[in-house]
Amino acid sequence: MLGARGGWRALRRCPSSIVSSSSFSSSFSSFSSSSSLPREQRAPAARLRVRQALGAREAAGEVQVQGWVRSIRSQKEVLFLHINDGSSLESLQVVADPSMESRDLTFGSAVEVRGKLVKSPHKMQNMELKAESIRVVGPCDTLSFPLKAKERHPLEYVRQFPHLRCRSNALGALLRIRSEATAAIHSFFQDHGYVHIHTPIITSNDCEGAGELFQIETSNETQKSAEKNHFFNVPAFLTVSGQLHLEVMAGAFTHVFTFGPTFRAENSQSRRHLAEFYMVEAELSFTESLQDIMQVMEDLFKTATSTVFSRCPRDVELFHKYVAPAQKGRLEQMLKNKFVTISYNEAVEILKQASQTFAFKPEWGCDLQTEHEKYLVQHCGEVPVFVINYPYDLKPFYMRDNEDGPQRTVAAVDLLVPGIGELCGGSLREERLPFLQSRLQRYLDLRKFGSVPHGGFGMGFERYLQYILGVDNIKDVIPFPRFPHSCLL
Ligand code: 4AD
Ligand code: MG
Repeated sequence: MLGARGGWRALRRCPSSIVSSSSFSSSFSSFSSSSSLPREQRAPAARLRVRQALGAREAAGEVQVQGWVRSIRSQKEVLFLHINDGSSLESLQVVADPSMESRDLTFGSAVEVRGKLVKSPHKMQNMELKAESIRVVGPCDTLSFPLKAKERHPLEYVRQFPHLRCRSNALGALLRIRSEATAAIHSFFQDHGYVHIHTPIITSNDCEGAGELFQIETSNETQKSAEKNHFFNVPAFLTVSGQLHLEVMAGAFTHVFTFGPTFRAENSQSRRHLAEFYMVEAELSFTESLQDIMQVMEDLFKTATSTVFSRCPRDVELFHKYVAPAQKGRLEQMLKNKFVTISYNEAVEILKQASQTFAFKPEWGCDLQTEHEKYLVQHCGEVPVFVINYPYDLKPFYMRDNEDGPQRTVAAVDLLVPGIGELCGGSLREERLPFLQSRLQRYLDLRKFGSVPHGGFGMGFERYLQYILGVDNIKDVIPFPRFPHSCLL
């Protein structure tokens, strides 16, 4: 680390050189060492993300880094800053002359730093930025800013500040992991030949038949009172699942998937329920075995998890170090072993023989409660467990009848995982028309629906497709061209 003003001056005289990191070398191609020129005549500084700067293999001349100040330490001879821009957990150290300090340069402020990227003499970091100028773009009132420098804020604390918590290490890491996981899931399906289908968000079907629907209305008060004046002429809801629309597509494509927002009006405040969540769903045609479905669930889980662990190890490590310290070893073990499978019948027997007393007495025909799921996972050695073949009366109409005598079951599967309970739910679908007709009757009166908001920018994907393909009518670029989308109900 350069601790003295002399060292600082020496650095300012260093000739710049080109960074060769492949991902951003092109943005460096047009600049040269020009710090002796007046500012307006200099070539524009190459803009670097913190992640790129930290990963650079060589020093670089005129660069610019933008981000938020994570720490500031002023010494007599030198001013140290750490800048984070959300591109990595690690912040970039900036070494500046103390004369660059200003009242607005505080923890939390948004800054733009120009200078030279140099090898850091410090063991903990690869590169650091020798500042030639620091511009405070957005000052921060540190007294009222709820995040404090050098404090490790618990997740419960930052939860109180939904608009600011993305500036904390934990939420920053989580959002990068979420982004990688999304990409990994898409890659898994693409690599295995699945076609991605955008299933509708506004629908008239209640796939699960559990009546957990958000109904959509226009904001027009007069329409609200007149039930007949539905915008789409029928009641419309936010989707609880894209499954039925995927099943339509599975009539033409043998492998399809969807990955989008899903809504449930469960009004549960539990730690595993959301009103709005993203669901990955797959549909496989010509599949007669539940095992085949389970194999895809297991492969998807393991492949996506290994990819995320290898693509953002530092972010994952933060969670495995501070949030759930024993999790790393357990997950590594889990990735190596085959998931356990038990039947619903076996699950009930295990629960009945348990020494533990449950709030809900386990009985054949009753749904597995969270306490039951937790016990089963523990009983099997704290590993993921597939529970298969549930009672016919417990599950939605679309599940395939096993036709297995008085204790009638369907070919259903739930994947239970430690600490959560149900992670996935699936089944073989009832493809036999007479079976379905008799069962569907019971669900006809359960059909209801559900709604969504946010900020940023948007591009109409259909208009984009229309534009690049030269298609005249927007109806020709969407998977389900007619509303209502309830093709199956
Ligand atoms: O078990 P579910 O209700 O299954 C379906 O919706 C099927 N139609 C899926 C299919 O076969 N295509 O929901 C699937 C998963 C659950 O296992 C659970 O992980 C998650 O969605 N889930 C929720 N996650 C967060 N908040 C909620 N309220 C959730 N409800 C379900
Ligand atoms: Mg379920």
